[in-house]
This record gives sequence, structure tokens and C-alpha cells, in this order.
Amino acid sequence: MTRLWTLRVAGSGLVLAAGLLAVEGPPVRAQDEPRVIMITARRFEFSPNLVTLAKGETVKLQIKSEDVTHGLFLRPLGIDAEIVPGRVTELTVRPETAGTYRAICDHFCGAGHGGMKMTIIVGE
Ligand code: CUA
Repeated sequence: MTRLWTLRVAGSGLVLAAGLLAVEGPPVRAQDEPRVIMITARRFEFSPNLVTLAKGETVKLQIKSEDVTHGLFLRPLGIDAEIVPGRVTELTVRPETAGTYRAICDHFCGAGHGGMKMTIIVGE
């Protein structure tokens, strides 16, 4: 009886150890995953309205709208997205040239449409 109890304790110890290993183990391929930047569009701004990237860094932009359809356009970085309410628009960017860029909303969204911009800074 005592022997059986000892085995059970040893057994649960093994399960616990296995659980700890699973929690503490390195995340699979986590370092290869691009950084994700979430952007919200609403009349008449992007939030955040300033994004800083590193040259050669691959990032994933996830953009959603809180109200109407907007656009996000920046030719030098190959960004040309339509942002429709109710879904997340995802695009991958890998800037190769440092500089300060101004992305615009290129989908008419109301009276303040012309002022709806976002700055993207690409550092060395
Ligand atoms: Cu937002 Cu045009």
C-alpha cells in the first residue's frame, strides 16, 4: 500500500516536470516571426499616426477601420491597402531605404479625408 502511494507521487512529479518543460521550452520559430504592428483607421486619423521601422526589417501591418472604408497608400514602401470595416487588412512590409515617409488615406472617407495621413520613419 505504501509502495503504491510512493509510485503515485513519483508519477505526478514526472507529469509536473513535463508540464514545466513544456511551459519553459523555447517558442518554436518565434524569433523568425515578423513584428506585428496594429493600426486603427477612423475619420480622420490613423492610430498610431507615427510608426518607426528599421531598414531591412520585415513587419506585418494589421489594419482595421472603426467606421467607414479607408485606404492606406505609400508607394515607396509598396503599401496600397483598402481598409474595410469588420475585417483586418494584413500586409507585410520590408523597407529597404531609410527616410521619413507620409502615407495617406486614398479612399474618400468624408470631409477630413485630405488630412488623413500617417508618418512612417525608416531608420538605418
Ligand atoms: Cu480615410 Cu480617406
